[in-house]
Amino acid sequence: MNVFLTGSTGFLGGELLVELSKRKEIDKIYCFLRAFSEDEANIKLENIFRIHHDYYDEKKIIPILGNLFDEHLTDLLIKNNTITDTDVIIHSAANTSFSKIYDDMVERANMGGLEKILLWAKQLPHLQTFLYIGTATICGKDIKNRLIFEDESPNLKASHLVKYTYTKMHGELIIHRHLTEDKILIARPSIIMGDSRKVVPRSPVILWAAATINQLRLIPADANSMLDMIPVNYAADAIVSLLFANRNHKVYHISSGKAASTTPAKVCSTMEAYFTDLPPFRFKSKLLLNQIKLWAKGKLQPESELYKYPEYLDYWHHVFEDPSAIRILLAGLDPYLGFMELGQVFDNTRLLTDVPSIKQSLPADVYISNCLTFIEKIDLLEGALNP
Ligand SMILES: NC(=O)c1ccc[n+]([C@@H]2O[C@H](COP(=O)([O-])OP(=O)(O)OC[C@H]3O[C@@H](n4cnc5c(N)ncnc54)[C@H](OP(=O)(O)O)[C@@H]3O)[C@@H](O)[C@H]2O)c1
Repeated sequence: MNVFLTGSTGFLGGELLVELSKRKEIDKIYCFLRAFSEDEANIKLENIFRIHHDYYDEKKIIPILGNLFDEHLTDLLIKNNTITDTDVIIHSAANTSFSKIYDDMVERANMGGLEKILLWAKQLPHLQTFLYIGTATICGKDIKNRLIFEDESPNLKASHLVKYTYTKMHGELIIHRHLTEDKILIARPSIIMGDSRKVVPRSPVILWAAATINQLRLIPADANSMLDMIPVNYAADAIVSLLFANRNHKVYHISSGKAASTTPAKVCSTMEAYFTDLPPFRFKSKLLLNQIKLWAKGKLQPESELYKYPEYLDYWHHVFEDPSAIRILLAGLDPYLGFMELGQVFDNTRLLTDVPSIKQSLPADVYISNCLTFIEKIDLLEGALNP
């Protein structure tokens, strides 16, 4: 079996590549990636294996240079005879930014780029499966505080916190326009954060939000809203196992489900036990978010509620020196706080039933203990400026 994988240089994509490379059923993995030269592409791919000392089989892993923004991408792929023997496409590449300033790029990559790949995919002679890495959060922001099932999405009436989830929802619809049902498989991970192994996680994404929350300590969010988060190694293992499983469905949540869900309070309590020199966590109403922003601008009204917590204001002055840093951090954190408030948990019965080798994931408040030394090293401002 030959697999064409996009997004292998990413957080989840890298882990998918390593998992796929271990499978004896797979002969070749064509890695579609952005690079200026074959040499650069090979170095990028080798680095994916080097980070956790995995075995890199250069005969099995073949770089295919390209960019989702390239208007000639479909032609480029069609003319490339090397990849005509592709049996499975795993489309993991996406622009995952939550920041409004990237909305246009997010749409061009996640909808336009996907369509270009599909136009090539649909004329492949042996295509068996197009595995789309979607996201469970396409359900939108109107469903709150409950368990959500795969069949509730895609829903064109859903409203979205960020453009990213809107484009991922449309991605699923675009796939159905181009491919027949028998070729489509959709994996929808929930929120992927960190790694449950004692290794350096592949990416600080989402852990950046945890690190920022850890630094702020006074948090404008509900302490007890349900959170569905999974580690990247679990997500990759589940997705690759799903590819080889006897499946009864076309769409699967890759999630913690109810049993392994967590809450902000639980995750923060794990961080509190480790970072003992910081003030205790306090969760307050989301309304406080604006007050913190105004305080950081020096424009907070004297009677405001935030002044009831002078110990945190003193602490922020001490940690951040320049309060405008807090504004930058909050701008980056804003969408994450929005997702935290939704209390969404994604049912994982389909995955656990159809893929017996995959058990329940560890709850994030448990496995995050393996990421704490890494959290300490995350550059918060850098993460906020490059969302
Ligand atoms: N992380 C999560 O919490 C999460 C949760 C649910 C679903 N997902 C889905 O999982 C998939 C992988 O996410 P991730 O966390 O691995 O994201 P990521 O770390 O941001 O990686 C994105 C990948 O897409 C590639 N890419 C972006 N724009 C491209 C372009 N114009 N042309 C070619 N390649 C491009 C990137 O390549 P470069 O290295 O060149 O930038 C990178 O390899 C996505 O489809 C995402 O929607 C992620």
